[in-house]
Amino acid sequence: MAPLMFFIIIIIFLHVPTNTANTDPSDVSALNAMYQNLNSPGQLTKWSSAGGDPCAENWKGVTCSGSRVTEINLSSLGLSGGIGFQLSSLTSVTSFDVSNNYLGNQIPYSLPPNLQRLNLANCGYSGNLPYSISQMTSLKFLNVAGNQISGQLPDMFGKLSALTTLDLSSNSMTGDLPESFSLLSSATDMYLQNNQFTGTIDVLANLPLKNLNVANNKFSGWVPSQLRNINLQKDGNSWNSGPAPPPPPGTPAAGRGGQNRQPGSNNPSADGSSDGGKKSGVGGGAIAGIVISILVVGAIIAFFLLKKRSKKKSADIERTDDHTFAPVAPHPVKEMKPVQASSMVDTKTFEIANLKPPSFDHHKSFDDEEFSAIPVVPKKVHVAPPDATSYSVADLQIATNSFSADNLIGEGSTGRVFRAEFEDGKVVAVKKIVSSGGVSDDFIDMVSGVSRLHHPNITELIGYCSEHGQQLLVYEFFNNGSLYDLLHLSDEYNNSKSLIWNTRVKIALGTARALEYLHEVCSPSVIHKNIKSTNILLDLELNPHLSDCGLASLVSDADQTGGYSGPEVSMSGQYTIKSDVYSFGVTMLELLTGRKPFDSSRTRAEQSLVRWAAPQLHDMDALAKMVDPALKGLYPVKSLSRFADVIALCVQPEPEFRPAMSEVVEALVRLVQRANMSKRTVGVEQGRSGNQEFMP
Ligand SMILES: *[C@@H]1O[C@H](CO)[C@@H](O)[C@H](O)[C@H]1NC(C)=O
Repeated sequence: MAPLMFFIIIIIFLHVPTNTANTDPSDVSALNAMYQNLNSPGQLTKWSSAGGDPCAENWKGVTCSGSRVTEINLSSLGLSGGIGFQLSSLTSVTSFDVSNNYLGNQIPYSLPPNLQRLNLANCGYSGNLPYSISQMTSLKFLNVAGNQISGQLPDMFGKLSALTTLDLSSNSMTGDLPESFSLLSSATDMYLQNNQFTGTIDVLANLPLKNLNVANNKFSGWVPSQLRNINLQKDGNSWNSGPAPPPPPGTPAAGRGGQNRQPGSNNPSADGSSDGGKKSGVGGGAIAGIVISILVVGAIIAFFLLKKRSKKKSADIERTDDHTFAPVAPHPVKEMKPVQASSMVDTKTFEIANLKPPSFDHHKSFDDEEFSAIPVVPKKVHVAPPDATSYSVADLQIATNSFSADNLIGEGSTGRVFRAEFEDGKVVAVKKIVSSGGVSDDFIDMVSGVSRLHHPNITELIGYCSEHGQQLLVYEFFNNGSLYDLLHLSDEYNNSKSLIWNTRVKIALGTARALEYLHEVCSPSVIHKNIKSTNILLDLELNPHLSDCGLASLVSDADQTGGYSGPEVSMSGQYTIKSDVYSFGVTMLELLTGRKPFDSSRTRAEQSLVRWAAPQLHDMDALAKMVDPALKGLYPVKSLSRFADVIALCVQPEPEFRPAMSEVVEALVRLVQRANMSKRTVGVEQGRSGNQEFMP
């Protein structure tokens, strides 16, 4: 009897705390931000814009398990506004449904990362799908139907092998179906109707589809035989009606391999000739025709091979070969195009390659190569206006108190940065571009490019202002200032204490990931041109956010001083992505030593950080003397020496020997993983624990 009572009491005790448990604070703050961005609507009963306890208080549409939020369903509540920039901290949410509300603008980059169901249907979204969706490996159900999503669909489906239902219907998507569709190995239901997709549907041939709707697009070619016996809606396209058999079954990849043959088969003239061949029968003329065709095809192949080889040579410096991308960004991701093309918007046309400063010619060749593989994509595209809010000068003037000196938080070569606070309490950073008499069209083009960069380690552009000759950019605001401030401006016993070794590695890794994204995920790749500690902003958890991305055109060669630029830049003004890698190496050196890249207050031999430090990076004793004294000797020796090894690779004088950023990321991830492992086995506690935060 007594043991039973005891047991019951224990059960009660175990139960009570889980029921009244406070909701996880990061979940609460994400929901607070969401509520605020939706303008605190009354429909969301019990919700609050500051604090509260969603799980215990039964917030409308929120489901919890224990102290974590697991489901959010705000479908059809007549909401309007944004859903916030903090949703990625909702790591236990598996189902997120905000369909049938007016949430305008573009789908936020920051979404709960472990979703199984995502429903953003009928939300008024424009722009393109955010890259973050490509990382949701648990996703089973994705619905973005009934928005105004436009442009070519990014090749972002390579990791979504769990996805069973994909609904992209009734949007304005253009271009061919992405190659990575063929990797949707669980897809049973796919709704692509009412878009403007072009090309064939061959990439769908080997998927386990039961229901497929491709109606009302601009598809051509033949329906693959594998798809003939499923529930298929295909009206409203330009299917090839010719009697010729479809391309050999089971070769969805032929679109790439036989690039020249396939589009040709949709081409009326090609059709005509094949029909003609059939009518006249196989005579001497036909045989001569075949011989000529073989010769022509051979010549074309030879031409492409030669062209490719010469490209490789000129692009050598950047190593655009697949293997450089392989470790971190698998092939499909590489082709992600944050710079979205839209045929819907009738603004000025120009070549995609021109989004970057035109001086970098080798990049142009890189683009050419990419495009030569997809002959259907036109060279000229319409570029949509920025996916960012347009502010008036008056708005920003009020928010910054007329750009008062009190609100000045930074000043760099590209402009001054002010803290701005809007009436609703939202705080942002406003960058006032030092206008070089630039044309405002160029500014809008630049803003368009920047507004499509989305990465957790890149400062997010919120809006812009182009009025009365002013050029302003509105960014998210970070409380902790820049890495430069933290390393060089804090008093020794105050802030720099928080920069323990693990945090320094975390900052290096996050920044490396941002650069990897710019160089290797974005296409055409984006050169930063201004990597330095003042451009690495830190949030409250000291996560790095790289600023000034996409502003390379504002950085003149003369600005690249201060000890960050590689020898090739100072000598010949040749700036490549490998020059970014060098500057990144200098920044890592700054993290390791706590010294400025150029410090005139030091002795001549020690003024240039790289020149002083680089020759000693492989010498353990010298390294121990170089390391930032603020660390007070608290660092794992192995980790320090591996960090130094990465620096040594990045600051090599010859650009072609410097690693690609994906290799740097890989090396830093390995460093972190090994540190975790040795920590587990040896049990050495180094600084604060919290290594998991840098796990990929
Ligand atoms: C969300 O709620 C709506 C009705 O309010 C329902 O139709 C829908 O299925 C729900 N979504 C999820 C994912 O449960």
